[in-house]
Amino acid sequence: MNVYDSGRMAEMLAALGYATTDSPDDADMVILNTCHIREKAAEKVYSEIGRLNKIRDGKIKNGNGRSILAVTGCVAQAEGEQILARAPYVDMVFGPQTYHRLPQMIAEATRARGHVLHTDFPAESKFDELGSARTVNGASAFLTVQEGCDKFCTYCVVPYTRGSEYSRPARDVLLEANELAKAGAKEITLIGQNVNAYHGSSPDGDGSWNLASLIRSVAEIESVERIRYSTSYPAEVNDELISAHRDIEKLMPNLHLPVQSGSDKILKAMNRGHSGAQFRALVEKIIKVRPDISLSSDLIIGFPGETDADFEDTYNLARDIGFVQTYSFKFSPRPGTPAAMMDAQVEDHVMSERLDRLQALLAENTLRFNRETVGKTLPVLFDRVGKQPGQMVGRSPHMQPVVVEATPEIMHQIAEVKIRQSSAGSLGGVLINAGNKERFYA
Ligand code: 5AD
Ligand code: SF4
Repeated sequence: MNVYDSGRMAEMLAALGYATTDSPDDADMVILNTCHIREKAAEKVYSEIGRLNKIRDGKIKNGNGRSILAVTGCVAQAEGEQILARAPYVDMVFGPQTYHRLPQMIAEATRARGHVLHTDFPAESKFDELGSARTVNGASAFLTVQEGCDKFCTYCVVPYTRGSEYSRPARDVLLEANELAKAGAKEITLIGQNVNAYHGSSPDGDGSWNLASLIRSVAEIESVERIRYSTSYPAEVNDELISAHRDIEKLMPNLHLPVQSGSDKILKAMNRGHSGAQFRALVEKIIKVRPDISLSSDLIIGFPGETDADFEDTYNLARDIGFVQTYSFKFSPRPGTPAAMMDAQVEDHVMSERLDRLQALLAENTLRFNRETVGKTLPVLFDRVGKQPGQMVGRSPHMQPVVVEATPEIMHQIAEVKIRQSSAGSLGGVLINAGNKERFYA
């Protein structure tokens, strides 16, 4: 979502005459978009703003004038005052719900009225202020349909930093999806902290739409060839969404479904709203309608009270389901969350041992899955040039990077690739000589 938000900020700033640049060295303004989910990410912010300030100092010495240094995202939301106290040279601090006020904030900052701090949760929705015109960098685009979270998992800061659940009206989402398509998006990922809790007003304004209805409508946009959604809350996956995986060909057979733990005791302490068995049953239902689906997940290791037996439950779940491309993290106690105050915090070396074992399994799962892809022919959406000359890289329906020899004209196109090789991180293959795709041969 930070990628989406950064894109929207860049579009907004373009209207004020700003353009994005690859390096902070030549920037008139640097906006650091931050994440508060784990301590490590949040702590990095302070070293990063120190580094950016040094670059700015260098510029001033060279007579290039003073640039603006801004911090946004969830660290800004949660620690706004602290950032200004620890790093008084920061000019602007604003949360993820106020970036539509950027023109006003920049005016305030350049008028040298001291620090600009906007971390309220405004009554107006930023989406109404941003408008629908979109630019697309490449052929894949994110589209925020839902934001915030009311689930209050006991370890998580999101309900505090992103606010309560809000669904954009379906009409606005479809308008933006059409804009993205016009701007060249072939793949749209509908995003939200709890995207399957989506319940926006229907286009006629009379009722409410869910995520499945949105997916169906986006699938009607002809030039959109791939649809994904992220991130789902397992306890709220409904039958209509499962059926969408059977009925809508454009919906990719790859699903990120965070489970966090396989232990019923820990799931309960996390306030996740389901048991391990319920999660397994849900996965079975999804696989039944879409047997080729690949599943990725998020797993937290070392939640307070996690015993060896609880960890085994998580390990066994990850093994049995065969999660691929999965993220696993050590539990990070976050200020203000109930889990940070719980007894029986797990020692770091125990967490490390468990994490190593789990990550070895997850790597093995992904390696096996990639190996099983060899010999298959898959549609690949090409989105970058490869490391070696003459190589192009794209994504399979399962998000695996696929490397082929092809000319750059294939960029942002979907072409069929016969998979010949696999490794832990990518696949290699050859383009299938299909009609007009011939021109992509190197
Ligand atoms: N500690 C460790 N991991 C966390 N996540 C969220 N909060 C924490 C925390 N306090 C992980 C969850 C979530 C992902 C985005 O980050 O697995 O799904
Ligand atoms: Fe955080 Fe997701 Fe739980 Fe919401 S559902 S509190 S975003 S982990």
